[in-house]
Amino acid sequence: MERQRSFSFKPTRFLVFSFTICSSFIFLTFFTIWIIKATPLVRQPTHLQFNRSYPNLGPRPITVLTLTGFSRNFTKVDLKNPILIAQDLSRPWNSSGFGGISLIEGIQKKSEAVEDGGFKGDAFGGNFTEMQENVHKASPEKIEVPISGSKEEKKTRAGSLEKIEASTVDRTEEKKKIIATSSEKIEVLISKKIEQRKVKDCDLTKGSWVFDESYPLYTKNSCPFIDEGFDCDSNGRLDKNYMKWRWQPNDCDIPRFNATKMLELIKGKRLVFVGDSINRNQWESMLCMLMGAIRDPKRVYETHGRKITKEKGNYSFKFMDYQCTVEYYVSHFLVHESKARIGQKRKPTLRIDAIDHGSSRWRGADILIFNTAHWWSHYKTKAGVNYYQEGNQIHPQLNVSMAFRKALTTWASWVDKRINPRKTQIFFRSSAPSHFRGGQWNSGGHCMEAAHPLNKSFSSGYPEKNIITDEVIKQMKTRVTFLNITSLSEYRIDGHPSIFGRKSDKRQLSNNIQDCSHWCLPGVPDSWNELLYFNLLNRRE
Ligand SMILES: *[C@@H]1O[C@H](CO)[C@@H](O)[C@H](O)[C@H]1NC(C)=O
Ligand SMILES: *[C@@H]1O[C@H](CO)[C@@H](O)[C@H](O)[C@H]1NC(C)=O
Ligand SMILES: *[C@@H]1O[C@H](CO)[C@@H](O)[C@H](O)[C@H]1NC(C)=O
Ligand SMILES: *[C@@H]1O[C@H](CO)[C@@H](O)[C@H](O)[C@H]1NC(C)=O
Ligand SMILES: *[C@@H]1O[C@H](CO)[C@@H](O)[C@H](O)[C@H]1NC(C)=O
Ligand SMILES: *[C@@H]1O[C@H](CO)[C@@H](O)[C@H](O)[C@H]1NC(C)=O
Ligand SMILES: *[C@@H]1O[C@H](CO)[C@@H](O)[C@H](O)[C@H]1NC(C)=O
Ligand SMILES: *[C@@H]1O[C@H](CO)[C@@H](O)[C@H](O)[C@H]1NC(C)=O
Ligand SMILES: *[C@@H]1O[C@H](CO)[C@@H](O)[C@H](O)[C@H]1NC(C)=O
Repeated sequence: MERQRSFSFKPTRFLVFSFTICSSFIFLTFFTIWIIKATPLVRQPTHLQFNRSYPNLGPRPITVLTLTGFSRNFTKVDLKNPILIAQDLSRPWNSSGFGGISLIEGIQKKSEAVEDGGFKGDAFGGNFTEMQENVHKASPEKIEVPISGSKEEKKTRAGSLEKIEASTVDRTEEKKKIIATSSEKIEVLISKKIEQRKVKDCDLTKGSWVFDESYPLYTKNSCPFIDEGFDCDSNGRLDKNYMKWRWQPNDCDIPRFNATKMLELIKGKRLVFVGDSINRNQWESMLCMLMGAIRDPKRVYETHGRKITKEKGNYSFKFMDYQCTVEYYVSHFLVHESKARIGQKRKPTLRIDAIDHGSSRWRGADILIFNTAHWWSHYKTKAGVNYYQEGNQIHPQLNVSMAFRKALTTWASWVDKRINPRKTQIFFRSSAPSHFRGGQWNSGGHCMEAAHPLNKSFSSGYPEKNIITDEVIKQMKTRVTFLNITSLSEYRIDGHPSIFGRKSDKRQLSNNIQDCSHWCLPGVPDSWNELLYFNLLNRRE
């Protein structure tokens, strides 16, 4: 009797039965449609170079494929060419918590919720359709959907879950509505993301100099630090346009330098430049740019009580209101300049196997900007005869390229060993071009006639030193950002002091030697610092 009763045709049972059939059918339909539409998606991630797979999302491989487009681990992006290898650009400027990874987390959480709620199959059908819809609407570049989208969706979906429990009849309709609304939201958010992508993919080395009346960012009157050698204005240079050019990349904009913001970024920190006099040039530029945010110049003082001169020494300035220092250390080669007995005499050598002995002073810095270049083309370094030393051995002859590579490798292993990458950010600025025409620096080379940037790049080729530097950096454990300013500076033949590196009364003494290596301030190094600033902004946690 009991058994027979159980086979009897009760209306509730019929409802349950038909519901099961219906929902299975709906699920199958959605699933099929999804499969068909999703197939081409598989290729999109590759196209976008987002082809990292996420094996731990294993049990639902199709979901993984769809999500791959959203799920790249941006902290590991390794861009090749840009001046600033800005790796965290996926994060929006205002750090409101968008990010590829979180989207996955969001969706994972959602699916867990669904499984707990027991709506597994159908719910998935809905989600697949929805995701596919989004992706479908978005052209390949639009594929990245920011996380806030998924947060919103999450809310919507949570709501819908309740509704599904309440009424099974209106479900498909309900779903459509959800799909529509979240798609709209996603459209809006997608466009935001596009801009970020644009910046991330932007090659900052490709662009042009744009004349901008709102520049320079400071003047000789607002900055007490400009050294005579860079103070072209005070030394009598009459044309002023060289101060007013702004570097404009082809594919994105660099934000205008904001001294207050920069000081906030380095609050309580040490910003340290180490290298040759071109780095001193950049360091002075940075000091001057930062002065724009300081109302009382007395709140900035030299920590060693020294005047800025061309002599060797410590150059360190403290911004009291931000408890930060901006420092410069002379190191022509980054490795140790030594002396050794060669024959009867003690002669200068370069210990390409030992870091500069001043390194302990830079080690604790929070931001380090290195460079070395010009001294490697001086006579002694170039000739390489009885000059390069490793241990007790002095190479009778060593090719300068080999020596440079060895020296940089020494520097690199010092960084890898001694620098804490969690505390210190490291930059290496590429070589800055000289513009001597009609001779070398000591044989009548000149650049004084230039009052306009070149329309075409000046150099005959990309310097080998930069290629070596780039290769060495790529082998390092520590992340080093290569500030690639070489090509953009090549246009700026007008930016050098030429004869205006000295006051007029001293000019006669200089045998008409022109300075076409250093840069007037305000001037080209300000642009390098804007790029540095741009990079620091984007890395901010
Ligand atoms: C995709 O990944 C493969 C192996 O992981 C790699 O060789 C290839 O370069 C990647 N493609 C792109 C476009 O990133
Ligand atoms: C992303 O990279 C960071 C740092 O390397 C690592 O801690 C994190 O686990 C990675 N996340 C994923 C999803 O790979
Ligand atoms: C630096 O930028 C120039 C110009 O875009 C490029 O040719 C060069 O390869 C870049 N160097 C590196 C190491 O990225
Ligand atoms: C930061 O994000 C919020 C929310 O998305 C947005 O309203 C705001 O305009 C953003 N701010 C900046 C500076 O991008
Ligand atoms: C799928 O969408 C439904 C609503 O359509 C929602 O309740 C559920 O959480 C979603 N599941 C997943 C895995 O996203
Ligand atoms: C510069 O940055 C500060 C602090 O972040 C901000 O208050 C100020 O509005 C910014 N100035 C400009 C011109 O953007
Ligand atoms: C440089 O500073 C250090 C302390 O930071 C000091 O010991 C040293 O004497 C200084 N050297 C010069 C040349 O001022
Ligand atoms: C240094 O040596 C390498 C190979 O030994 C050679 O290709 C290169 O041209 C040399 N460079 C110079 C500046 O002599
Ligand atoms: C570059 O082009 C501009 C306008 O096209 C011209 O005025 C200027 O003289 C050119 N400069 C050089 C150095 O050729």
